[in-house]
Amino acid sequence: MAAIPDFCGVKDIIGTDLGRATELLRTGEVVAIPTETVYGLAANAFDEAAVLKIFQAKQRPAFDPLIVHVHSLEQVEAVVSFSDLERMGMRKEAEALMEKFWPGPLTLVLPKADRVPDLVTSGLDTVAVRMPAHPMALELLRALDFPLAAPSANPFGYVSPTTSQHVADQLGDKIPYILDGGPCTVGVESTIIGWERDAEQWVLYRPGGTPISDIEAVIGTVGQARKTIIPASPGTLESHYAPRKPVFIGDVRSLLKEHFGKRIAVISFTQNHEAWRTVVLSRNGNIAEAARHLFAALRSLDSSEADVILADIFPQEGLGAAINDRLRRASAKRN
Ligand code: TXA
Ligand code: MG
Repeated sequence: MAAIPDFCGVKDIIGTDLGRATELLRTGEVVAIPTETVYGLAANAFDEAAVLKIFQAKQRPAFDPLIVHVHSLEQVEAVVSFSDLERMGMRKEAEALMEKFWPGPLTLVLPKADRVPDLVTSGLDTVAVRMPAHPMALELLRALDFPLAAPSANPFGYVSPTTSQHVADQLGDKIPYILDGGPCTVGVESTIIGWERDAEQWVLYRPGGTPISDIEAVIGTVGQARKTIIPASPGTLESHYAPRKPVFIGDVRSLLKEHFGKRIAVISFTQNHEAWRTVVLSRNGNIAEAARHLFAALRSLDSSEADVILADIFPQEGLGAAINDRLRRASAKRN
């Protein structure tokens, strides 16, 4: 029987073929991969030409450094300078964080090993590293003899993808393969912290999938990153993770009055509203479930007929801090 021809090639780009993903990565290509947080656009972290393809596909400015993904504590040693960590007196705490939270949604910004190309770190002497908690990502990493640099698999500045289809919608014609690991279970990006030498303390660069209170239970108080670090960490840019439609956050009842007469879409934590469309993120008030559904809701409302998107302010505990952070940045005006 003749094979059914694949007319547009689209059918082919999403799949679960680890062998194909491995082969592409070994030959210097980029592949979108699932993680527990969001889908990443991965390439060999030690191959500058391959990493450059990530920046091109995402139209990402070169000043925005990437996160390096590893599968084991041994592999971290190829990426992080443990002698520098030791000299700073931070080795014990860094290792305690890795032991406690990896694999999982915590990224550590640590002194970089020489082998990591400058393109990955945007010329910084630190590198962001994490071990993802997705079985397929770990299996892929174990099959390779290099770590994977991977930012979120979305055009720069837009909402991160939490399904393989989200990736295909925006980058489908720019990348050779999307490894499908199902919908992401966390749904917001990793928490990023780093040791700041001048301030002599751990600081938060981005709230995310690991609640900050859990981290503080291991290393004590985590400070806020100073504003001067911002050019080095665009995830902290005011406008980021942003849909094209205007987003307003606050008390939805008053916002509904303010925007009366428009076609209004609402992202709500638990309850329906009298609006053109309401997406309830978790009917029974489960903040982790809300985080899991947030980006899909933003994407679907952004491609709907709505004029504006209104959103609740979420309780600040647990993943609520990350949800509020992303909504706030989604609502910041771009200029
Ligand atoms: O959950 C995640 O972290 C996802 C998945 C794919 O792992 N990745 C992700 O990557 O969100 P990306 O590139 O979208 O966001 C990484 C953030 C950027 O804002 C970048 O500026 C910051 O990490 N970053 C990377 N290296 C850094 C460094 N050395 N110092 C400070 N910030 C850094
Ligand atoms: Mg991103």
